[in-house]
Amino acid sequence: MAPAAELASSFFHYQRILISFSKPSRQAGVKIMSKNIEGKVVVITGASSGLGEATARLLSAQGASVVLGARRVDRIQSLADELTGSGGKALAIPTDVTHYDQVKRLVDAAVQTYGRVDVMINNAGLMPHSPLERLKIDDWNRTIDVNIKGMLYGIAAALPYMKQQQAGHIINVSSVAGHKVRPSSAVYAATKAAVLVISEGLRQEVKPYNIRTTVISPGAVATELPNSVTEPDIAENVRKSYEIAIPAESFARAVAFAMSQPEEVDVNEILFRPTRQEL
Ligand SMILES: NC(=O)c1ccc[n+]([C@@H]2O[C@H](COP(=O)([O-])OP(=O)(O)OC[C@H]3O[C@@H](n4cnc5c(N)ncnc54)[C@H](OP(=O)(O)O)[C@@H]3O)[C@@H](O)[C@H]2O)c1
Repeated sequence: MAPAAELASSFFHYQRILISFSKPSRQAGVKIMSKNIEGKVVVITGASSGLGEATARLLSAQGASVVLGARRVDRIQSLADELTGSGGKALAIPTDVTHYDQVKRLVDAAVQTYGRVDVMINNAGLMPHSPLERLKIDDWNRTIDVNIKGMLYGIAAALPYMKQQQAGHIINVSSVAGHKVRPSSAVYAATKAAVLVISEGLRQEVKPYNIRTTVISPGAVATELPNSVTEPDIAENVRKSYEIAIPAESFARAVAFAMSQPEEVDVNEILFRPTRQEL
């Protein structure tokens, strides 16, 4: 089955996929998927749970070398051990994305170990929803530091290598919240809107270097994300809204779809939701 047909047949909606072609592709068919993933060196932030972990598993199974960054070292180390135990190539590097030097060390480790960085997935994030009037200033600061600055540090760490390679792919993680704001989500939604804007600016700027850019906006996906809500009543609301959440592999397949296109095809935006999600 062709990748597009495979996506359409899955149990969730892809509502918006923007693709630009630099020239017509003569390739087609599902074999492209693992062919353009196999052998690639992929750095993933926030790889200790949820979307990052699921993506590491899927890409490793398809032959990519994965470099895992997160603060919970035990989690990324045991994931790396598991993937290498199954014959894959994986490396775990302790990383707090709020520190540029640590994100640079993560990407440098990928290049030192595997010789290059093909894909940078800026995925680390948190979602401590609360109404603005509660003045949760520490939550605001953490959200901005991880969701915006962390992504920018990932771009900063990978871009010099990708320019030199004249090839690469930067994948940023936004959200449906980046497209629609709701009460209690203003700061989170603003950070995810920033991810959309920065990704589009990046897309335009890196054209001369043959670098692809993708921003993925998931709806409710079952991960540990709701645990980052610090206000008990809001956390309860979020948990209810996540009753319809779909598995994290839905995101991993979106990453694989974008990566597996022929190199001249740049999948710029993917927005998907659970089929049952209203907002
Ligand atoms: N799940 C959804 O419904 C959904 C929907 C839209 C968008 N997203 C986005 O998807 C991304 C991944 O979230 P998830 O759903 O997979 O949630 P998750 O299971 O809570 O995973 C979040 C990841 O981010 C990492 N992280 C948080 N702060 C970090 C820091 N300072 N430095 C490094 N890593 C950090 C965590 O690792 P450590 O704690 O080990 O550092 C963890 O691996 C986020 O950007 C989120 O906004 C998720």
